[in-house]
Amino acid sequence: MSERKTSDVNCGVALEPTEDRRSSPANVATFGEVAAARMGRRSFLKGALGTTTYAALATSPAALLAACGEDESRDVPAVSSFTPKPGSLADFTEVSHGVSTDHVVSPGYSADILIRWGDPVLADAPTFVPGAPDADAQEKQFGYNNDYVGFVPLNDDGTRGVLCINHEFTSRDIMFPHDLRNTSPKELADTEMAAHGGSIIEIAQDPDQGWRVVADSKLNRRITTRSTAMDLSGPAAGHPRLQTNADPTGTRVIGTLNNCAGGITPYGTYLMAEENFHFYFLGELDDDEREGATAGDLEAACAAGDASHPEARNYCRYGVAMGGGYDWGRHFDRFNINKEPNEANRFGWVVEVDPLDPTSTPVKRTALGRFKHEGAESIVNKDGRLVIYMGDDQRFDYLYRFVTDGTVNTNDRASNFGLLDSGVLSVAKFNDDGTLAWMPLIHGRGPLTPDNGFDSQADVMIETRRAADLLGATPMDRPEDVEPNPVTGKVYVALTNNSRREASQVDAVHDRGPNYWGLIVEMTPPDGDQTADTFTWDILVKGGDPSVPVIGAQFSDATSNNGWFACPDNLAVDPSGRLWVTTDQGRGWPQISGTADGVWSVGTHGDDRSASAMFYRVPVGAEMCGPCFTPDGETLFVAVQHPGTDGALAFEGHARPSDFEDPMTRWPDFQPDMPPRPSVVMIRKDDGGRIG
Ligand code: FEO
Ligand code: CA
Ligand code: CA
Repeated sequence: MSERKTSDVNCGVALEPTEDRRSSPANVATFGEVAAARMGRRSFLKGALGTTTYAALATSPAALLAACGEDESRDVPAVSSFTPKPGSLADFTEVSHGVSTDHVVSPGYSADILIRWGDPVLADAPTFVPGAPDADAQEKQFGYNNDYVGFVPLNDDGTRGVLCINHEFTSRDIMFPHDLRNTSPKELADTEMAAHGGSIIEIAQDPDQGWRVVADSKLNRRITTRSTAMDLSGPAAGHPRLQTNADPTGTRVIGTLNNCAGGITPYGTYLMAEENFHFYFLGELDDDEREGATAGDLEAACAAGDASHPEARNYCRYGVAMGGGYDWGRHFDRFNINKEPNEANRFGWVVEVDPLDPTSTPVKRTALGRFKHEGAESIVNKDGRLVIYMGDDQRFDYLYRFVTDGTVNTNDRASNFGLLDSGVLSVAKFNDDGTLAWMPLIHGRGPLTPDNGFDSQADVMIETRRAADLLGATPMDRPEDVEPNPVTGKVYVALTNNSRREASQVDAVHDRGPNYWGLIVEMTPPDGDQTADTFTWDILVKGGDPSVPVIGAQFSDATSNNGWFACPDNLAVDPSGRLWVTTDQGRGWPQISGTADGVWSVGTHGDDRSASAMFYRVPVGAEMCGPCFTPDGETLFVAVQHPGTDGALAFEGHARPSDFEDPMTRWPDFQPDMPPRPSVVMIRKDDGGRIG
């Protein structure tokens, strides 16, 4: 069979030109290179199911528990008392691969809108007016491009809760009319800043709708780039490299940027991961740029280490002010690295928010490192310490783990709020013998010394990537969501793709170069110890069409023609220990799979291991984010991001633009003057009961 043609695609957000640039050192062995020999032991586990449970979670009060789902297994009818097997494949009728203007869910289920861009979050929010930028109104309305969704129960039966939702980025072409896009007035940037950040909404079960937003709840809150004051805490807080004209203390910053995935801690705080913060800064990293140098010249200056900006080495590694992105710096000095040289050091962190106190100040926890954080999912170790897994989503970047010094206190919620300020951040190195080592990023150890520009732990945290480079971390194929399974103790890593991995860089894990389709890696801590220095690893699935041998996909034979997927991004584990996967193929979906993104159930254990089935499909141009189950397993919340954007050139078999004036879809309203609107969707079984 001939190889399917693939364009050089990027499965990330639509606006990611610098994702194509590798900024980790090329002389480091790739994940693939070190893993080649490893593939000799790639035999899939058969029936051996880890059963470690985590008492600290099991005994937490309901209001402290992070939530996400519970379902039933494939060969058993939907009986509410049935407990599905951890690691099994969910039982539902598959949807087909395809692309349409509307979303599609498995027969027997309903998918309804909970909240969409512009809907009220605060009780006094003005009515949404399409096409009219209004930053003050947007501060009170649901933001754009919902990504992470987390649920914190408010009562023991889980009928009330708060939903925490990230708003990752804005899509100007489809949000606003042509004249505004052309002139780019300050009010447009201002409104975009208000559309970023997060929303916290109280929701309650409703007999008619499933769930409804509690419109007048005092818990409802918007967090934005534009106005929300945040503290910086941990090793880098107050460091001169974090000080600005507006904040000489280096401890107080306005707003958060590009909040992609995230996490809910066991004590019910909301972690917002700052991902592609580099897009938002203008200015020159090198004096020569002002004399008309090309992008290639800048890359050369970065590579040679002689760019002139005081933070050049740091900003070159992160792609700050290296092209593409937003024009906010035209209107706001803090987004210009020549006018405010340190502002970009105040982004790229994990932000912790208490969603149960709308007056609380969000805190950027610098102990978790500064990089393009995809998410921050956590698990309580058996000794009570909290362990957070984090991917740095760029080609050839790294996988991280943070282990707190202290332990989770299930009897005193507030006592946990400083837990993330003290602990050890480590980066992963995958070995070809099937093990992986966690290498701590501690100032003074190994190469992390003044000789290499690290004068303190603050420097190590501000330049986490460069510190990890020096330790020889394994460059990976865009680490996205990293999801620990609290039922089995195993940890899953979604590697979206890497179109820049060359054939010479392939190996047992990344055995495809280029890798357009992504894969999921399974990590196993020894004896369930999530803090151990050494884990083992294996591959769960490799994306792509398994019927085309040259693609080299890897799913079990139980996977149907609709069951395979490409470009895994977000992961969720339901309370029964079953893995769910969402995809982000970006604008390359027509070549990668021919289907829109969606939600899949994936078996991880026994006969179901590596079997996959498609449950839900997004409308054309959208990306699937935020899978989150309620504690009873009867609702799955998903976030439909940027409907009507990616793939504009392939829909309906002909080239066409997709913008505010003529979008590919007007989902979910389908009203003539209403643009498509990113929305949180609630999926429920028509007859009631657990999903799957
Ligand atoms: Fe925002 Fe890596 O996805
Ligand atoms: Ca993502
Ligand atoms: Ca997740």
